[in-house]
Amino acid sequence: MIKKEWMKIVSVDKIAKDSYEMMLENEYISTHAVPGQFLHIAVPGHTLRRPISIAAVDKQAHTTTILFKTVGSGTETLVIYEIGTELDVLGPAGKGFPVENLHEGASVLLIGGGIGVPPIYFLATELKKRGITLQFILGFQSQAYMFYEKKFQSLGETVIVTDDGSYGEKGFVTDVIGHVAPFDRYYSCGPLPMLKAVKNKLPHIEGYLSFEERMGCGVGACFACVVPTNDQKGYKKICQDGPVFAADEVIL
Ligand code: FES
Repeated sequence: MIKKEWMKIVSVDKIAKDSYEMMLENEYISTHAVPGQFLHIAVPGHTLRRPISIAAVDKQAHTTTILFKTVGSGTETLVIYEIGTELDVLGPAGKGFPVENLHEGASVLLIGGGIGVPPIYFLATELKKRGITLQFILGFQSQAYMFYEKKFQSLGETVIVTDDGSYGEKGFVTDVIGHVAPFDRYYSCGPLPMLKAVKNKLPHIEGYLSFEERMGCGVGACFACVVPTNDQKGYKKICQDGPVFAADEVIL
């Protein structure tokens, strides 16, 4: 259940160009968060909270790790906070990736783009514990923006793609989907054009997409985050019904 909590900053590290890893301490959030969920963080001086996906939790140490890019004054404020600062957070927010009916030995492809990579990492660590075979395709703007390569390689076959070809394959994540071994299901998180391309490329395979849309209220009240769906209502709210949806449920 989503709650308002105070999370203490334990560490902040720059891990790539404009990209930061922040570890936060709070027992409730670290105990209840599942892969795909996010934190909605209040930043003083900014009306809207910032939604940031969860990259890892340590239930023993009561820590939650988030990764974010400094894309505006809100996230730029976050990185200058001192260690020990308490952040006002709503979380764990949203619904996570469905994994219940995956059997041990199943093969899964995980596709992440840019700042959509962190929730894929959290999911991967949980699936690995369940004996799932993992393959990854990770897309970044360029080598300078790349992070977590070794962490992913320790969990499964990993293909890196960069827009400019400065590292790994040149192009888009969808350019290399045909090169990986067969898989039973896929999960993907990244910008909307990437999710659309992934869905179109894999029309007959069960898949789940996690959206990294900008949000308003974050709790289902403002309709700033709707995505068209093919159910009776015709739309769903990313903050409340998502951010993860079945690929065949959304219209992109
Ligand atoms: Fe307000 Fe989703 S952000 S309804």
